[in-house]
Amino acid sequence: MSGRQTSDEMVPRGGPEAGPAWWTSAVVYQIYPRSFADSDGDGIGDLPGITARVGYLADLGVDVIWLSPVYPSPQDDAGYDISDYQGIEPVFGTLADFDALLEAVHARDMKLVLDLVVNHTSDEHPWFVESRSSTDNPKRDWYWWRPPRHGKAGGAPGAEPTNWHSFFSGSTWAFDEATGEYYLHLFSPKQPDLNWENPQVREAIYAMMRWWLDRGVDGFRMDVINMISKDPALPDGVVDQGRWGDGSPSYLNGPRVHEYLQEMHREVFADRPGQFLTVGETPGCTVELARLYTDPVRGEVDMVFQFEHVQLDRGRSKWDLRPFRLRDLKATFGRWQAGLADVGWNSLYWNNHDQPRVVSRFGDDGVHRVRSATLLGTLLHLHRGTPYIYQGEELGMTNAPFAGIDDFRDIESINHYAEAVAAGQAPEQVLTALRAMGRDNARTPMQWDSGPHGGFTTGDPWIPVNPNHREINAAAEVADPESVWHHYRSLIRLRHTEPAVVHGDFTMLLPEHEQIYAFTRRLGAVELLVLANVSGRTAMADQIPDAAAWERAEVLLTNAPAPDPAHHRLSLQPWEARVYRRTVAVDEG
Ligand code: NOJ
Repeated sequence: MSGRQTSDEMVPRGGPEAGPAWWTSAVVYQIYPRSFADSDGDGIGDLPGITARVGYLADLGVDVIWLSPVYPSPQDDAGYDISDYQGIEPVFGTLADFDALLEAVHARDMKLVLDLVVNHTSDEHPWFVESRSSTDNPKRDWYWWRPPRHGKAGGAPGAEPTNWHSFFSGSTWAFDEATGEYYLHLFSPKQPDLNWENPQVREAIYAMMRWWLDRGVDGFRMDVINMISKDPALPDGVVDQGRWGDGSPSYLNGPRVHEYLQEMHREVFADRPGQFLTVGETPGCTVELARLYTDPVRGEVDMVFQFEHVQLDRGRSKWDLRPFRLRDLKATFGRWQAGLADVGWNSLYWNNHDQPRVVSRFGDDGVHRVRSATLLGTLLHLHRGTPYIYQGEELGMTNAPFAGIDDFRDIESINHYAEAVAAGQAPEQVLTALRAMGRDNARTPMQWDSGPHGGFTTGDPWIPVNPNHREINAAAEVADPESVWHHYRSLIRLRHTEPAVVHGDFTMLLPEHEQIYAFTRRLGAVELLVLANVSGRTAMADQIPDAAAWERAEVLLTNAPAPDPAHHRLSLQPWEARVYRRTVAVDEG
């Protein structure tokens, strides 16, 4: 549906006088600090470890680094439970280490974006410590406190103020004996939700954001930012899982979320010179909502992370595994590309610290690992939007072989296992789901070389390194021109050099085809064609429009050797991907 408009009005602008916003041609690389590089042998990655690898990222060619949280934290949810917004967790280093990293990143002409986790704090944050100290403490209202359900004794089953199910199992409410009330926590009980209705909360957060920008950071990735506004009536949800109800209609994309984001933009970014990036994590976001969140005229965020494509292989919950169908993926991406063609901007991702490894999920992590990892990278990076690479994705890192529940570290997986087994599910069945979808798949250490612990640490890693680091590692891939790493580098370079990759319009082809993912990008007289065989069987793409002309076009990028002249030129080997380029006559009018 994108038609053939490629006018300048469709490109988010960097400011009233400026050209396209800088991040339209940028590639972002996410670092999960615990698992990236350990400089001091304590088994946990740290800031000096990252600083030592900035050159690796510059060689790859990325423009922006997003750091998952490095703030002081009890680490109940691996740092997404923050007890001090203006410091550095000692295990990761010091503020001086942070400044040194920032300087090293800027010296390479890259930018650094922090994780902003302001839907909730840690229960050990001084704000919450004060809030829970008495019902009349001035910070009581900074969090969501409610009395037990009418007629029930606090702490008794069913006394929770609502029936909502937490993302990390059990109720979203924890009873606090000292004051006889419950507090809300959509995630763990150690992550109480902040009450954004209170203007003092909002001002404290904006002041903290300004403090980091003053220090030199270049923006924020905003954790579950579309959960900050709740319906203050806090109604029960429809019961969906045993005794629990779905509270999401009351906290996803809530009544004041746009107002808050616009206020944040005004208070933090609007009058500040510089080039920033803001990306909101928004589970349950539709295309229509994304147009509101990312329309530059509205002043909310630059782009959002939507979740539709990472929910195509699940049923009612993420643990309810379903086969994935290529046509659903095409329908989803096609809808997002079309929906944000004239307003707003897409972020593009397969992986992050919450998702299983894409080559194991949508590719083939066995015999076709390299081919399928490069195909998936090609597809993602050739869409319109800002691509995000999660550490190790550029190596084609795979899911990990978890033998049993003791191998998992993540609170979400551990709690789900306990809850599901207590409810009667067979442990092996629960483990099957954890192995496929568990977040620890993304969190095993970065595989730097084939040596002990993959070169991640000289100590005992906090979670074991995937044994396949002997074959899959950065040292080997940087040395091998046919590697996944080199393919990602070419993709990044293509985005930097070919404007049609950045701004070209998007047209999906063959939406029903069961093996082939094909689309064009067009900017003025330049047209690109992406052809990918998302399967382990040979496929024929000669049904695409204008096939005869495309056969003769220049191949800009491929993940396979030149086609055998004995075969049709549009026949694709298993997991083969090609990007073609041609110039075409520009339509008049
Ligand atoms: C989303 C983050 O990506 C995830 O890792 C975290 O557990 C939750 N938000 C809670 O902060």
